[in-house]
Amino acid sequence: MTRRILVTAALPYANGPIHIGHLVEYIQTDIWVRFQKLRGHRCLYICADDTHGTAIMIRARQEGRSEEELIADMREQHVNDFAKFDVEFDNYGSTHSDENRELCAQIWKSVTDAGLVVEKPVEQLYDPEAQTYLADRFVKGTCPNCKKPDQNGDHCENCLSNYTPKELIDPKSTLSGATPELREAPHRFIQLEQLHEFLHEWTQSGEHLQTEIANYLKGHFLGDELRDWDVTRPPAYFGFEVPDFPGNYWYVWFDAPIGYIASTQQWCKANGESLDDWWRSPDCEVHHFIGKDITYFHTLFWPGILKTAGLSLPEKVHIHGFLTVDGEKMSKSKGTFIQASTYADHLNPSYLRYFFASKLSAKVDDLDLNLDEFKAKVDSDLVGKVVNIASRCAKFVANDQLCPQDDLTVWGEQEGQPSIPLDGGIFDRNSMTQADAIARMYEECDYSGAMRRIMMLADEANRWVEEQAPWKLKHDRRQQIAVCTAGLNLFRQLVVFLAPVLPRLVEQTEKLLACKITSWDDAKVELYGTRVAKYEHMMKRVDPQQVEKMIEDTKEAQADDASSDAVDNPYNDGPEALAAEPMSGDECTFDDFMKVDMRVARVVAANHVEGADKLLQLTLSLGGDETRNVFAGIKSVYDPEQLVGRLVICCANLAPRKMRFGLSEGMVLASGPGGKDIFLLNPDDGAKPGMRVH
Ligand code: MSP
Ligand code: ZN
Repeated sequence: MTRRILVTAALPYANGPIHIGHLVEYIQTDIWVRFQKLRGHRCLYICADDTHGTAIMIRARQEGRSEEELIADMREQHVNDFAKFDVEFDNYGSTHSDENRELCAQIWKSVTDAGLVVEKPVEQLYDPEAQTYLADRFVKGTCPNCKKPDQNGDHCENCLSNYTPKELIDPKSTLSGATPELREAPHRFIQLEQLHEFLHEWTQSGEHLQTEIANYLKGHFLGDELRDWDVTRPPAYFGFEVPDFPGNYWYVWFDAPIGYIASTQQWCKANGESLDDWWRSPDCEVHHFIGKDITYFHTLFWPGILKTAGLSLPEKVHIHGFLTVDGEKMSKSKGTFIQASTYADHLNPSYLRYFFASKLSAKVDDLDLNLDEFKAKVDSDLVGKVVNIASRCAKFVANDQLCPQDDLTVWGEQEGQPSIPLDGGIFDRNSMTQADAIARMYEECDYSGAMRRIMMLADEANRWVEEQAPWKLKHDRRQQIAVCTAGLNLFRQLVVFLAPVLPRLVEQTEKLLACKITSWDDAKVELYGTRVAKYEHMMKRVDPQQVEKMIEDTKEAQADDASSDAVDNPYNDGPEALAAEPMSGDECTFDDFMKVDMRVARVVAANHVEGADKLLQLTLSLGGDETRNVFAGIKSVYDPEQLVGRLVICCANLAPRKMRFGLSEGMVLASGPGGKDIFLLNPDDGAKPGMRVH
């Protein structure tokens, strides 16, 4: 049965270029769409730029041009980037379109008529210099929870707590650096709680969501009252004005998902179809592909809106994890925040499509682009296994013809011939179990499973070609051509299975074998007697120098930008120490600092002090005859024997202090809160007692 399927990928923000993290999603979705089309279903791949919001407005201001100009520019860049990676949309729209404005108004009316909208005053931070209210991410300050400085307006990357920007300590506008003021303005809210029962039912039953997502929603949101959703913004804002709330704009996340429908509508207009057949018909399945960061919007807010407006609910929201590079978050300073265009300048986009396919599963797990693994996989699978079959067989029939069917049958029935592997196609008309299994995996988004199975088949095919060794059959031209005919049919069958992932390989194969691959069932088609073109190189191994250059280019392009990834810290150091002992706000001048004479010293004697629980008595040598007698509160951690001989740092000009046990003539430097957590400082190797520390 032919299905009607509408597929969307999240709409990328128009305020930045497409990077390889985004590509995980657009490639994943493209593969799924190509697969559905290959299966003969009617399938649309819909996307658009997400153009509204403060960020675009501010950037346009900074660049001294209109928002419209900026988003037109970005759209062109995005469209170019996607094309380079063979990501083929049926329509690529924009949320700043007439269609979207109209649909927003209609849907807004539905939610208003349903009694879901309320108005409430909202206190928000306002940047008096930039003259705009500040979206949460334009405010930075100290986390009210863990006190870590330089955190986002609404959540802390360090302790993961959520708060409102006005709870931030010492907030600063990232637009102007000004200290924002609290101002009050009316906002309109959608009362999601009214849809609680429906959302519980929809998320928890059926197969609309991956199990881990359904559980996450249940555990994090559905157990409590759902919060009212603030969907309008006072000026200045770049967006659509709300018709019944003059001077206010819909918040970007209200109009963005409606952009899916608006972009579909553009397609319908251009193709003479009715929007209702795609968005209001039980005969059409809607599938959304998104990253895990925007789960809430797509699994609670959006189904609630769709339900209220009488539009189709998604059949499934497919959620993927985040891309890391070499095990770490993509980072500007390490050159791993790789833009799509930079990648395409150096490496074949098919490599990345295959690599992502080999990593993606139906789970929400993050995936890692390890650059060594990338090369190893592409080289061994694509070049070594798949293309290898074509290059070995095609050259013996180049500019000649594949054998007639009879030749292959006669030869195949000869006594002692190993049977040709792979089922389906010319080889076993009765069973297409492999093809079916692979198709099921594509359908379920288990691409890594599909790739593994295809590579197992490729291994078998290679073994068979190896056994037949067409290069040794010069004396028997007829048999040589028969073997190569079988080999090239095996190759072609693999290419059909890989077609959703590698459209370019499909084109090359079509050229080589003068055939068309337009359907999954083409795997069953047998080619005989047709002409074979001259073999042209299909795919090279990954050139490690190009990988390096790509990283270099990325670093260069983003050198001025590197400061923006201040959070690029792989060490996961916690905030506890600073929180326990907040930093002094007092400035220390250079002169102040130089007053403290710190020296490298060697512990030459260390003893317990009678009657003292915490203290050890140390004799420190500063070299020559210069010594200091110091009482140090480090007994809870250090044994005297351990200390003798080691270097420490001491403050050599501390005013001597008379203690119950004797005179203390300095201080050894240590860190930590005390108790079992005391850490003596020591200089790196080579330092000598008496050296000054500065
Ligand atoms: N504009 C919103 C989506 C609106 S949909 C109505 C948005 N845009 S985005 O440009 O930030 O992200 C677009 C998609 O790319 C999202 O689904 C996001 O999860 C995905 N990714 C962005 N960075 C990614 C990685 N590093 N790894 C994997 N996916 C990533 O969110
Ligand atoms: Zn925090």
